[in-house]
Amino acid sequence: MPELVPVFTKDQIQKMVAAVARRISHDYKGRTLVLVGVLNGAFMFLADLVRELSIPAQIDFVRVASYGAGTASSGKINLTKDLELDIQNKDVLVIEDIVDTGLTLSCLIDHLKSFGPRSVRVCTLLDKRERRERAVPVDYTCQVVKKGFLVGYGLDYAEDYRSLQEIYHLKL
Ligand code: IMP
Ligand code: MG
Repeated sequence: MPELVPVFTKDQIQKMVAAVARRISHDYKGRTLVLVGVLNGAFMFLADLVRELSIPAQIDFVRVASYGAGTASSGKINLTKDLELDIQNKDVLVIEDIVDTGLTLSCLIDHLKSFGPRSVRVCTLLDKRERRERAVPVDYTCQVVKKGFLVGYGLDYAEDYRSLQEIYHLKL
């Protein structure tokens, strides 16, 4: 049986989300903010984040499949659900659960820029910075983490564990 080692509690996550929401609310005041969540991993983070913002925001999602059932990035982005809102001249903030190699995000940023937004920035709950293979600007990071596979609070392993309210290190 895989072992789940606690990494962040509900309370720690709530505090991280509230803190980043304050920064975003401050930075985007008076702008036309569109949050673009990356499915499936970011659904819980986005839902909590948007409720902590003190400014209005539109919400859309893209879905990127790159991992299959494994734990390593294939390096190719496979967009299985595209954007539906018009983001031309709008300020886009991509909402990610975790940035690992950076391959997914760098392909996604190029794709979003092709729609002519005013700006594209990135907010991630977790940043596995030491594993980066492609330089990608991450504007808002709630927490830098070490390598190792994390699950819970939206993050999955082969579609399991997403519904957990805390974040765990999965030891296979
Ligand atoms: P990247 O292209 O290697 O940066 O992979 C990014 C995506 O892989 C994230 O959006 C996650 O969905 C997934 N991912 C990366 N590391 C983990 C992890 O530790 N747990 C769960 N999913 C992960
Ligand atoms: Mg993801």
